[in-house]
Amino acid sequence: MPTRRDFIRYLSVAAALPTLGAGRMPAPRPSPTALRFEALHHAVDAHHHLPRGYRAQVLLRWGDRLFGADTPFSAKSLDPATQARSFGYNNDFIAYFPYPPGSASSTHGLLCVNHEYTHPHLMWPGLDRGALDGDMDAQRTAVELAAIGHSVVEIRFIDGAWQVVPGAFNRRLTAQSGVDITGPAAGHSRLRTSEDPTGTHVAGILNPCGGGKTPWGTVLIAEENFHVAFSGETRDAREARNHARYGVGGRRGYPWWGRYHSRYRLDREVHEANRYGWVVELDPYAPAAAPRKLTALGRFKHEAADCVLAADGRVVVYSGDDAPFEYLYRFVSRRRYRADQPAANRALLDDGELAVARFHADGSLEWVALRHGHGPLTAANGFADQGDILIETRRAADLLGATRLDRPEDVETNPLDGCVYAMLTNNTARTAATADAANPRAHNRYGHILRLLPPGAPGTSVDHAADEFEWSVFALMGNPDEPAQGATYPGSTAGGGWLANPDNCAFDPAGRLWIATDQGANWRATGYADGLWAWGQDGARGAVFKRFFRAPVGAEVCGPEFTPDGRTLFLAVQHPGADGLPGTGYDNPATRWPDFDPDLPPRPAVLAIRRDDGGSIGD
Ligand code: FEO
Ligand code: CA
Ligand code: CA
Ligand code: CA
Repeated sequence: MPTRRDFIRYLSVAAALPTLGAGRMPAPRPSPTALRFEALHHAVDAHHHLPRGYRAQVLLRWGDRLFGADTPFSAKSLDPATQARSFGYNNDFIAYFPYPPGSASSTHGLLCVNHEYTHPHLMWPGLDRGALDGDMDAQRTAVELAAIGHSVVEIRFIDGAWQVVPGAFNRRLTAQSGVDITGPAAGHSRLRTSEDPTGTHVAGILNPCGGGKTPWGTVLIAEENFHVAFSGETRDAREARNHARYGVGGRRGYPWWGRYHSRYRLDREVHEANRYGWVVELDPYAPAAAPRKLTALGRFKHEAADCVLAADGRVVVYSGDDAPFEYLYRFVSRRRYRADQPAANRALLDDGELAVARFHADGSLEWVALRHGHGPLTAANGFADQGDILIETRRAADLLGATRLDRPEDVETNPLDGCVYAMLTNNTARTAATADAANPRAHNRYGHILRLLPPGAPGTSVDHAADEFEWSVFALMGNPDEPAQGATYPGSTAGGGWLANPDNCAFDPAGRLWIATDQGANWRATGYADGLWAWGQDGARGAVFKRFFRAPVGAEVCGPEFTPDGRTLFLAVQHPGADGLPGTGYDNPATRWPDFDPDLPPRPAVLAIRRDDGGSIGD
């Protein structure tokens, strides 16, 4: 039942939103399809939790063999060759592609999963998380490089459960798999290295976080925190400035990688770091096809790559740059998508215009093109050509006066009405002096969500390629019972409905928004574990946020991905036992999820969640 406080809270949201920018916009309304599950409350423990009537199958864990013949996983004997044939570490983005291609099968498909990074202190015994360098030898480094990247896994739903098929589609990409470079910056002098004098072929993918799916059946893999691979200092003044803008250099991250692979040393390879921070396109249905880094989409810490069609058929990709005070970008293809021309569609993301968002306090949003020769993007400012702009996307956006946001994470478009939602996860460095309409809170510890309306949205003919949108604050996260937090939601958050640090999100086939969180160590402050929430209607209560999933302690929740029938939800539980747990590790983890075997550490894993009666998730 809605309480009086819920009602007042709802009114306060409605009253607050126009002052937060966008009085002309229609108020956000959840999908009319009801959310019928019994919501979970806030808590934290070593296990995962689901509403009554739901079950989770552990489908893929770090180390699970993908090609059949290998011996089973043993944490006591990690070797790089076996790791390269096994499911990787820290599963993040998930994409489900029905099989056969072009079908809508919800019982047979290819699951594409990103493996973002490694946690050595949970992979090997006896390591001190704060002082790893001395323990990371060449063999362990090679395991790490084989454990990140991407997995393509064929799966079938048989006799009430999903099964991994060790078939010909299964594939692992690692930090050492060959990837082509395409688009306007391919071959650029600043992408050439001693290993690749052509600037067109790079060894591997680094820190793939979120992603997206194209209408032509390929997966987009977003390289995010690539800076962690690189150590040392560059002697080239121009590249030193460029690297500094991306946080590349010094001894952050994984400095031992440079001991065994000189390409990660900035004093040896001044351009190698420029070859990461791109969106990578991969065709999961073509196991022999090379993945491609798409330079037309710009270089930054891509959280994800939300791909939609504009009303005229041009292809649009929204992508946030996940760091404090960074930007939201949009790519629009020059040519149109044609369902009857699959070969031509493969080149759509190589030719188009990248733009960056300027949010205005009157509720309008301007997409400002990153186009060579226009405005400040000229040789006088160090941009000799479009390739320079794409390699130094952040600096180009700085010069264009784009809006500095509170860590843009995932972006998703409601497939039913074209409204676009951007998750901003937090930014505690925001001050009252730097707060603005789109980032209204100083010391933004809990994050917020912006809602973007292209012309025609909400509706069925939406112009995602337009130069101007409208926007509003959708929700300010945090606990609404603590007024100092300034949280507001378009709906009741009674029970476990309020959330912090939105990260990944997805729409289900009924158009309901599902939001996964990554609090990092912030769960110590909220007092509860990360999870998955849904925004929808709940009978007489009206609009509600409901908690659907609770992760084991120290994990973030990634992925959310539904089968086309909405009856299976794939969720990625990343780094169980890691965040906010100093003094724990392989030997004394805070959880041994999902195996709870005393001989095994916790393992990142993908869950396949179903209703006991086989019905649609959330109904
Ligand atoms: Fe890899 Fe922004 O999360
Ligand atoms: Ca993320
Ligand atoms: Ca998503
Ligand atoms: Ca994250």
